[in-house]
Amino acid sequence: MIKAGIVARLPKVDLHCHLIGTVRASTFAELARRGRLALPDTPERIYAGCNSLPPDPELYRDTRIPVPQGRSADEPEISYSLFQLSNWVTEALRDADDLTRIVYEAFSDAHTSSATRHLELFIDEPRGRLARLGYPALVEACADGIRLAEREFGMSGRLIAAIDRSRSGEQALQWVRTVVDHPHEYVAGIGLDNLETVGAPELFADAYRLAGAAGLGRTAHSSEHVPAAANTITCLDLLGCERIDHGYFVLQDEAVVERLRAQQTPMTVISTTSRRSWRPWRRASINAMLEAGLNVIAASDDPGMFPTTLAGEYRILADDLGVSYDRLRRMSLAGVDACWLPAVEKAALRERFEGELAALDAEVSAD
Ligand code: ADE
Ligand code: ZN
Repeated sequence: MIKAGIVARLPKVDLHCHLIGTVRASTFAELARRGRLALPDTPERIYAGCNSLPPDPELYRDTRIPVPQGRSADEPEISYSLFQLSNWVTEALRDADDLTRIVYEAFSDAHTSSATRHLELFIDEPRGRLARLGYPALVEACADGIRLAEREFGMSGRLIAAIDRSRSGEQALQWVRTVVDHPHEYVAGIGLDNLETVGAPELFADAYRLAGAAGLGRTAHSSEHVPAAANTITCLDLLGCERIDHGYFVLQDEAVVERLRAQQTPMTVISTTSRRSWRPWRRASINAMLEAGLNVIAASDDPGMFPTTLAGEYRILADDLGVSYDRLRRMSLAGVDACWLPAVEKAALRERFEGELAALDAEVSAD
């Protein structure tokens, strides 16, 4: 067993974290009350009820690692999906200052809770009042939050423009065109999120092609809700993704696992950010991915909305799955190698990690 303090202090990179999903319950409550947002319950109770239900339980009847079908004892009486909650949080945001604040708070929480040194945040296409800001102002507001965190916490950060897969391929292409037409040093790549069952990856081939031609990094949520490995192959071969977010259902297909193992494609995984009854299944899947030799990198996903942090995700690996210090150490460095900083900054981050890890190594071997 690794000592608690060691996992907490292990320097970390978070490559999969949604800005809207980082918003604290207390911040949402304040902003929702300010805007007199019409909600079915108090902001605090809505946050406590965050529990996405599966799109169609029938889909998961025949999976290699069985997906729990029933409710678990800790499921809330009334559930609010992550996507519903994200819509309300977005509605509560008013202006550039709100954006700077939530970015700053995301970095501050990651720094304090998890020793996160570099954080890449998914940002969505602006909707509601934020749409009136326009993309350049929106990105600048987020960049201001990152700059504050650079100064105060010595962190680095980047933004990833996320395509909402419930939108059409044409809408996604327009969004990516906006991103490409307004290059910004803090916008490092694109991603694909929302419910995988409603937006197959091939619908977004044009948007990904445009991003690739502009030199942006490419990642996508894949094999998260659809119990098949095929979407992940599409993300790699058609969309040109260099990272995969989630990917648990790649375990359905040995050949895909073998390819991901051989390529060492970085795969960001999160134990906690699913329906509560599914969490043991996620852990079992992550365990199998580790045993298969995949380049699994823990991430936090939506740490404001689910009871987790990046350090918490590392701790689950250590305590519940018995992952060794050595393996977590490699994961920490794999996060650096897979991040989308420019080469010089990445090399500096690696050097910093190697220094911090050497100090931890000495503590671990002294035990
Ligand atoms: N948006 C925020 N978190 C997500 C997740 N885990 N999957 C898909 N879309 C998301
Ligand atoms: Zn996600």
